Amino acid sequence: MRSDIDTILISRDRIAERIHELGQMIASDLDDISEDEEIVLVPILTGSIIFVADLMRCLPQKIRIGVMTASSYPGKSTTSKGVQIAGVLPSDLEGKHVLIVDDILDSGNTIRLVREEIRKRHPRSVRVCVLLRKTITSAMDTPCDYVGFDIPDKFVVGYGLDYDDYYRNLPDIGTLKEAAM
Ligand code: IMP
Ligand code: MG
Repeated sequence: MRSDIDTILISRDRIAERIHELGQMIASDLDDISEDEEIVLVPILTGSIIFVADLMRCLPQKIRIGVMTASSYPGKSTTSKGVQIAGVLPSDLEGKHVLIVDDILDSGNTIRLVREEIRKRHPRSVRVCVLLRKTITSAMDTPCDYVGFDIPDKFVVGYGLDYDDYYRNLPDIGTLKEAAM
């Protein structure tokens, strides 16, 4: 599987270091929230499973988690096919502080749709955190509070990101060889 990777763009060590920094930034912002208000992390599955697991362990606050599933790169797609939300959305978000967590910001459609769905549930605040952001206009123009890394406009896998549901378990983030696609 490792042999399917063309170039490693971000090593596991850099990922760990950056998540620690992101965690400190987010934790210090969440510190302003009074203790009787609730904080809910909303990770967008499946891509953010590994990221959210590492990130949430950097947050010392009392938090809940309510997952959402969205898909825009079904199967062997390497370009967006339009966002679909699957399964139930976290229901009781009214009056709560929500932190949406996603793996990568590309067209921005997922974050836009998820933010809209969450807004309808009347949260007190909504923040967005992504591990990766492609340096393309659509992504850079999408409002986002916390970004791990800005990367070139390439299809990447690893650390939760998939191609046809494979490669999520790679600890580093990299590009795939043509022959593997
Ligand atoms: P957006 O809605 O176009 O911003 O795309 C976001 C979603 O598409 C992400 O949550 C990923 O699941 C998927 N995605 C976008 N770019 C990549 C990539 O380079 N590799 C793997 N998945 C990607
Ligand atoms: Mg995803």
